[in-house]
Amino acid sequence: MDLETFRWLLTPEGQQQLLRATEVYVAHEGDPVGAAAEMRRSEPDPDRAAVALTQVGLRVRAVAKLGERALRMYFTPDGLEQATRHRVAAHRAARVAAADPGSVIDLGCGIGGDLVAFAEAGLTTAGVDLDPVRVAVAEANLTALGLQGAVAVADATAVDVEGFGVAFADPARRTARGRVFDVTGWTPPWTFVERLLEGRAVVKTAPGLPRDLVPAGAEAEWVSDLGEVKEAVLWSPHLATTRRRATVLARSGLATLTDEDDPYEGRARPVRELGEYLYEPDGAVIRAELVTAVAAGVHGGLLDEHIAYVTSDESFRTPFARGYRVLETLPFREKQLRLALRQRGIGRLTIKKRGVDVVPEALRKRLSLTGEDEATLVLTRVSGAGTALLVKPF
Ligand SMILES: C[S@@+](CC[C@H](N)C(=O)[O-])C[C@H]1O[C@@H](n2cnc3c(N)ncnc32)[C@H](O)[C@@H]1O
Repeated sequence: MDLETFRWLLTPEGQQQLLRATEVYVAHEGDPVGAAAEMRRSEPDPDRAAVALTQVGLRVRAVAKLGERALRMYFTPDGLEQATRHRVAAHRAARVAAADPGSVIDLGCGIGGDLVAFAEAGLTTAGVDLDPVRVAVAEANLTALGLQGAVAVADATAVDVEGFGVAFADPARRTARGRVFDVTGWTPPWTFVERLLEGRAVVKTAPGLPRDLVPAGAEAEWVSDLGEVKEAVLWSPHLATTRRRATVLARSGLATLTDEDDPYEGRARPVRELGEYLYEPDGAVIRAELVTAVAAGVHGGLLDEHIAYVTSDESFRTPFARGYRVLETLPFREKQLRLALRQRGIGRLTIKKRGVDVVPEALRKRLSLTGEDEATLVLTRVSGAGTALLVKPF
């Protein structure tokens, strides 16, 4: 979508076609060819017809990420892909607002995922981006949602952030190469991020952020949403409230754990024998290296010093880990394991693994189970030995 076509979409005529595209989309759901043909009957310009229809499809797709507000917003496919999930952006915005900075500048605002959340949190909001279409889309999104804010085309590295209470950046990242965290190719670049963090700043990065990249005095916060780790956020020393934090977002609300909650911080990790319960810490907790804080919280210890499974004799409900009751220990060797599972009538198996070289999908196929029952199997290492545990979520 070019800037001119997007501008047309915002005119009364464009808005009328967008409304029409919504009706056509609903009437032809699942039939894009039929929808496109019908759309062209009322909009002879094929580019405009396509843009209106694409916009409706993007709005529908965006609801999962941004909630119902997405149905009033505008997107580009890449802009939507890169936008922060609303629950995550709203948490960040609430933290920024709690620091009472007055204003925030978003240095690379894209289509405005974070920008909208900052404005909704009551902050005076400004945004810049290099891409003129994204700037126009972000501006239209603020207007569509009845929010205040100023957006402009500018290079973030040349913006004077002095007049703003907080500077925020969510650099565009090249697709991660394998599992290595790679800051080369970030735009704006990592050197810019480091400089920014010397002031009052917040920077969103990828979950794989290594601890040695966290500037001295800054806070690194790993955030998970509905069980999936979404990002690591750096809070500059002026805004940091701890060194490492895991924030777990769920539909029901938010829970947060920090290094200050960990009695084992700087001490030997508590390792103990298998108890009646097993806990699988949330990914944000693991990334923030707070597994021992979870162990302390459930009055337990680690099953193995280097593996993120916690065990305890007590059952606790905690937002920071999924809990299982340990039913029995099964043989680890595949042949005997298959026999044991068949004897128990288990046909459907959820396989969890940590610290062992097993591909769950491939193992499940090889086991070729046929029984009626369902079970969860945990494969891990205890004191160097492969261990198979039959467990039940509670
Ligand atoms: C990951 S996206 C931001 C997404 C945004 N936080 C959201 O939730 O919608 C990064 C954005 O930074 C912009 N960008 C990259 N380098 C920039 C620069 N030097 N100055 C301004 N914007 C830049 C890109 O065009 C892109 O839109």
